[in-house]
Amino acid sequence: MPPGSDRFPDGPSGPFAARTERMAVSDVRALFAAARRPDVISLAGGMPFVQALPEADVLDVARAVITERAHLALQYGGGVGLEELREQLVGLMAREGVQSDADRVLVTGGGQQALDIVGKVFIDPGDRIVVEAPSYVGALSAFSVYEPRFETIPLDDDGMVVEALEARFAEGLRPKFVYTVPTFTNPAGVTMSLERRHRLVALCRDAGVPIVEDNPYGMLRFEGDPLPCLHTLDPEGVVYLGTLSKVFAPGMRIGFITAPAAPLERMISTKEGSDLCTSSFAQLMAAAYLSGPRFEPNLLALVDVYRERRDAMLAALERFMPKGTTWTRPNGGFYVWVSLPPELDARSLLPTAFGRGVAYVAGTGFYPDGRGSDRIRLAFSYPTPEEIGEGVRRLGAVLSEALTLARGEAAGAPDPAPSHRGAGHDAGVGHGAAAEAAAAMRLLR
Ligand SMILES: Cc1ncc(COP(=O)(O)O)c(C=O)c1O
Repeated sequence: MPPGSDRFPDGPSGPFAARTERMAVSDVRALFAAARRPDVISLAGGMPFVQALPEADVLDVARAVITERAHLALQYGGGVGLEELREQLVGLMAREGVQSDADRVLVTGGGQQALDIVGKVFIDPGDRIVVEAPSYVGALSAFSVYEPRFETIPLDDDGMVVEALEARFAEGLRPKFVYTVPTFTNPAGVTMSLERRHRLVALCRDAGVPIVEDNPYGMLRFEGDPLPCLHTLDPEGVVYLGTLSKVFAPGMRIGFITAPAAPLERMISTKEGSDLCTSSFAQLMAAAYLSGPRFEPNLLALVDVYRERRDAMLAALERFMPKGTTWTRPNGGFYVWVSLPPELDARSLLPTAFGRGVAYVAGTGFYPDGRGSDRIRLAFSYPTPEEIGEGVRRLGAVLSEALTLARGEAAGAPDPAPSHRGAGHDAGVGHGAAAEAAAAMRLLR
């Protein structure tokens, strides 16, 4: 946080709520700033490749809404969301095996507002909640405002290590809820196995603990058979969150929740208190797009685009990462999670990487307890396959040199001090980016 001023001093005598002390300048905000620099290839922010959506298709639905439904589009709607969109969302969820009906759906301002609503409805200060480690950074920030105590459960290639959660429950842990992204997680890209899904649902059912299942990426599967959603396995115990951000457009800000009646009622009241309703215009556009003929082919094309980019990233990692580095191999979604050799610190290398024309997210933001300095999240969703190859090459060079330096093997290697390298052949990037990154890093938690 920037320091307070005379009129708005920090501390207990100032006007700020104590909870704002816990809010960090968002890594995500700094990342989007980085992504805008033309000389930096951003493997950082997980931005959907909206250019894949044909403009004509968007224009068609926008024109239809304005010419035929303007009175409705420009008006307030009910807090729960427009019925025609809720009906479409029921159909969308059914594609993934989630059974609901329009009366059990709440439309939200993106998946992010859904997370905030979950925090508001379930968390009192000091409550324990379970999250995966690593976990979606936006969920950690949404929840932390409500001052929970985070209990972290590790992830492996088969998703959350449910056995570790069982052990914690056996010790007496009873969290307010368990938050999970079971399919193509952000940031790790891994998917919870079928066996663990059953185990998690049974464990939480027996313990009377709700599950919050966040599923933005489930429809972006590149290969393999879909696995049942947790909600499908236990509709009465799971609050299910979805979004159109990854299958339509994040600028629409349309997310949704389906949940058992008791939490849903409270969520609807919470939503109304926060923004009255989601944009009617966006809801009508979304309903028209989902019910129209272009959603299906565009989704298939999008999956092809992301699969090609995932392949480009895995191939480049194989080629350019130094020995001792490992990474996940996602079957869908946007992200690869890289584990660095222990000598390297992802956060402190970030300004160097910026200076060499590549951005990534250091792992620390994805843990509530500051772990993750030896991890990197790479997003393959936005850059072209060529840019991904070049970005990973630049990253590989930065990591290899840092490793050489750290291992005291610099003799004979090129000058490893990045700030003295100038633009170099690598990136054609000046010192501006590195300085900007260093400034951004000072602001980050
Ligand atoms: C796991 C997860 N949940 C929720 C969101 C929020 O998505 P949105 O608010 O764009 O719908 C994201 C966005 O990246 C995400 O990765």
